Amino acid sequence: MFKLSLCLFAALCCATAAYAAPTPVVIWHGMGDSCCNPLSMGAIKKLIEQNIPNVYVLSLEIGNNVAEDEANGFLKNVNKQVEMVCEKLANDPNLANGFHGIGFSQGSQFLRAYVQRCNKPAMKNLVSVGGQHQGVYGFPKCPGANSTLCEVTRRLLNIGAYVDWIQATLVQAEYWQDPFNLKEYEEKNIFLADINNQKGTINQTYIDNLNSLNKMVLVKFTEDTMVQPRESEWFGFYAPGQDKQIISMNQTDIYQQNLLPLRTMEQAGKIDFLSVVGDHLRFTDAWFVSTIIPYLAQ
Ligand SMILES: *[C@@H]1O[C@H](CO)[C@@H](O)[C@H](O)[C@H]1NC(C)=O
Ligand SMILES: *[C@@H]1O[C@H](CO)[C@@H](O)[C@H](O)[C@H]1NC(C)=O
Ligand SMILES: *[C@@H]1O[C@H](CO)[C@@H](O)[C@H](O)[C@H]1NC(C)=O
Repeated sequence: MFKLSLCLFAALCCATAAYAAPTPVVIWHGMGDSCCNPLSMGAIKKLIEQNIPNVYVLSLEIGNNVAEDEANGFLKNVNKQVEMVCEKLANDPNLANGFHGIGFSQGSQFLRAYVQRCNKPAMKNLVSVGGQHQGVYGFPKCPGANSTLCEVTRRLLNIGAYVDWIQATLVQAEYWQDPFNLKEYEEKNIFLADINNQKGTINQTYIDNLNSLNKMVLVKFTEDTMVQPRESEWFGFYAPGQDKQIISMNQTDIYQQNLLPLRTMEQAGKIDFLSVVGDHLRFTDAWFVSTIIPYLAQ
């Protein structure tokens, strides 16, 4: 009898624990930032932990320390970064049953690349906060503590974003989309044109994996002065051949030619478009808690 009730207790207890265990959250920081800065990603991690009791939160560090992590946000080939993250997440037992991803700025499109290329373990919701899903054309402001890194980035982009060695080195060149030079973008861009299926052949795995998300949440900052054009945060971009007129997601080739399953996802109610009035990544804790936490607490 004692044994039986102990058994029963253990079973109940484990069942309750399994039921109550919240979905883990993985964070990928933006340019000029690092995994653990107490004023940025450190604070976000804490905010998530405070609002979702017992949640496991992993803030990705790309490299062996914070300085490397910050430098790699400028100078480590994104394809390699994504590979590293694929391996890291596959080997993290806390994530084995899936997780939610939240990316900030460029970290958003990098997490999308994780979903499309690897997705083992599988991501459930992808929250993109100020991500550049159609890339950028312009580099008006450069954030972060290290101005040397910004200067190097500007100079390299001036030499030419599609020069092979710059493509292979400079993160920002790897999501540079020149609307005056789309052919060169499609041919020479080694990251964004690939994950957006714009290199001539369509990778069906990318489509299937992206479509397997429960939700893709796209947050745009209405007064963003860092991302050019800011509509890239909602998958919009400049119309081909010029840099004035903006087209929205549903007018782009990616949507109309089903290069990614954006139409399918939109019709299934899987894409949420959110906007925040303000400059790049300027949001309050209150907004984050009321608007973003619900996607991470599912
Ligand atoms: C499509 O992407 C997957 C995941 O990255 C890769 O394994 C596969 O080789 C790609 N297929 C083609 C045809 O490029
Ligand atoms: C800025 O980054 C460069 C390249 O990684 C590094 O050599 C330099 O020491 C950094 N400067 C500061 C102030 O952290
Ligand atoms: C395309 O997207 C825009 C902006 O989100 C929206 O106003 C418009 O109604 C959409 N058009 C169609 C045909 O869905």
